[in-house]
Amino acid sequence: MSIYFEQGSRSFHLTNGKISYLMKILPNDQLGQLYYGPAIQCRDNFDHLLEMVPRSMTACVFENNDRFSMEHVKQEYPAYGTGDFRHPAVRILQQNGSSITNFTYHSHTITKGKPKLEGLPATYCEDESEAETLCITLKDELIGLRLELLYTLFANHTALARSVRFVNEGNEAVTIDTAMSLNLDLPDSDYELLQLSGAWARERHVYTRPLVPGIQSVESARGTSSHNHNPFIALKRRETTETQGEVIGFSLIYSGNFLAQAEVDVWGVTRVTMGINPFGFSWKLEPGAVFQTPEAVMVYSDMGLNGMSQTFHALYQKRLARGYWRDRPRPILLNNWEATYFNFTEEKLLDIARTARDQGIELFVLDDGWFGQRSNDRAGLGDWTPNYTRLPNGISGLAEKIEQLGMKFGLWFEPEMVNRDSDLFRTHPDWAIQTPGRTMSVGRNQYVLDYSRKEVVDYIFDSMAKLLREAKISYVKWDMNRCITEAFSAKLPAEQQSELFHRYILGVYDLYDRLTTAFPKVLFESCASGGGRFDPGILYYAPQGWASDDSDAVERIKIQYGTSMCYPISSIGAHVSIVPNHQVYRITPLKTRGNVACFGTFGYELDLNRLTAEELEVVREQIKFMKEYREVLQFGTFYRLLSPFEGNYTAWMVVSSDRKTAIVGWYKILNEVNTSFHRVKLRGLVPDMLYRVNGGAVYGGDELIHIGLLTTDSSSGECREGQTPSCDFDSCLFVLKAE
Ligand code: DGJ
Repeated sequence: MSIYFEQGSRSFHLTNGKISYLMKILPNDQLGQLYYGPAIQCRDNFDHLLEMVPRSMTACVFENNDRFSMEHVKQEYPAYGTGDFRHPAVRILQQNGSSITNFTYHSHTITKGKPKLEGLPATYCEDESEAETLCITLKDELIGLRLELLYTLFANHTALARSVRFVNEGNEAVTIDTAMSLNLDLPDSDYELLQLSGAWARERHVYTRPLVPGIQSVESARGTSSHNHNPFIALKRRETTETQGEVIGFSLIYSGNFLAQAEVDVWGVTRVTMGINPFGFSWKLEPGAVFQTPEAVMVYSDMGLNGMSQTFHALYQKRLARGYWRDRPRPILLNNWEATYFNFTEEKLLDIARTARDQGIELFVLDDGWFGQRSNDRAGLGDWTPNYTRLPNGISGLAEKIEQLGMKFGLWFEPEMVNRDSDLFRTHPDWAIQTPGRTMSVGRNQYVLDYSRKEVVDYIFDSMAKLLREAKISYVKWDMNRCITEAFSAKLPAEQQSELFHRYILGVYDLYDRLTTAFPKVLFESCASGGGRFDPGILYYAPQGWASDDSDAVERIKIQYGTSMCYPISSIGAHVSIVPNHQVYRITPLKTRGNVACFGTFGYELDLNRLTAEELEVVREQIKFMKEYREVLQFGTFYRLLSPFEGNYTAWMVVSSDRKTAIVGWYKILNEVNTSFHRVKLRGLVPDMLYRVNGGAVYGGDELIHIGLLTTDSSSGECREGQTPSCDFDSCLFVLKAE
């Protein structure tokens, strides 16, 4: 793997033998983009790839060269206003009111490994040989602003991580108005844009649409990455499927307001930009100050969407997530939220926990309602001290009792919030984000704390750390249940108010960092009303996240399928809940609820005491199965096989690293009768190995790949004696073991 700079042609070639990324210093000394795709051979000159032709009268050209205009040249980090009229990657407001800049090549360095991004989550290396980093310095000499474009190419992944560092070496403060993490000018627009969009309880559904001239984008301006759109997009060819064809995935390691955009110009060039949403953002950069953008990761695959996802999974599982729990199979938990909501006592919790323990559950999680004056969602947030009326032995006492039962204990927090009815708000009303003279919008009866203020983060750290020190807490669920409105910080001067959203998320990262450093063995699970902040930024601190408040198995199939586009299975929190389901009131078989949730960090979210003896038997079997196979389910190679967005059937599978064990999940929405035979073609198996399926028939790996696994069920005919009739929302797990 290497990064080359050819002095003569002034070109950069980043290649790891699988992909190549080519750039060139242009005649005006700015940086141009030449190619991104499958690896090509190294050459000392790629000038012939630079497309320059005389264009129409409307083009504004450089030095009267009618072949060279910024509007038509593919660029690396473009600015607006010197001939290019598309949306820029960078925009700097200067003291004289101008926003015109000219960032030209100054120098570059090539180093082994990957530097840390100060204060921001990012991918990392454990060994210098895993990656190489190119840092290209561009400078605007007039204002003394220096840009460092960082590119890290990984040896074993078709992934390129990018970010930009701004250093003000001038004498005057400037204001960064736009600072995208990446820009990629692609030579054509024959793509479909794939995005993960939705809303609360139906997060990350897969949408695709053909690119057309103009701008198509997804974004967030809510203060979180949001339920509505995920900071991920992919550009796929029309003919690209799950298993073959070209696709480029773009993912932003950031949890705040973002923009991911594809702008197609009238010559069919596609400009992809991704980064902090310029809407509502600006950053004052004083002389000597530095601003670091979040990191964006681009993944190229010519093996379809599965190929792209597997690269993201491997990279994010091993080189974004960190810490003690990164590689460890996750504990099977029971969370009391849907079992009790706010209506619990210590005795009731212990009752639930005892039954959970008897079935083999390893971790009991106490959700909302254990602190301050919290008996409903109108009070208590901010007061992270136990409610002794409800829990006479406090959290320490309860945790001790849970440990005595032989389980670990986990606790819910919502650290970024405050209720009006709380001691914290009564003492520090100004700590809640609000704009002077304006109404404070309420979301779930609560306000957002101003995490741009260090004293606020310090206070919350101290109160959480006290509990984590005092009580035997092995797991923390970090929730976040509203968006930011009336964005304004009492601590920031007028001209810096547009920094609040970014400063807020830096405060969140700071708290996560401090807590995970102080309590390295505690397993953190992120949550934001379900999947409202399910993004790579949080994954750096919390290796798993509650994917959605919707625990209905049928809805979850879509949510987990969409989530898997970018995120590893080990990061997807998935629980079995009661029926009728609390979100959609649907009744699904317990078997199917388990068969969906086991492709995630598995748990239960119900009172097991309310199940029948037969149902408890099923639960015990599910837990036994999960304990036997969670390593492969959570850390194996995941393949999507049939899409829930395209028909009545969904299928996906995982394959162990030695390819000797595979588990296929097959799901049917509505039952049909006397229907056709069904086969699902499997992936990832060794063709010449033999696999026994569910302890029965033996198939060749090649048969399963090319002919497929028979999934026809008894609904295709009359149900004979000894057969279980199939039903709506039916499902099946197939365990394949090499002979
Ligand atoms: C929203 C979360 O998504 C739920 O799982 C639960 O923790 C509630 N908040 C508690 O208020």
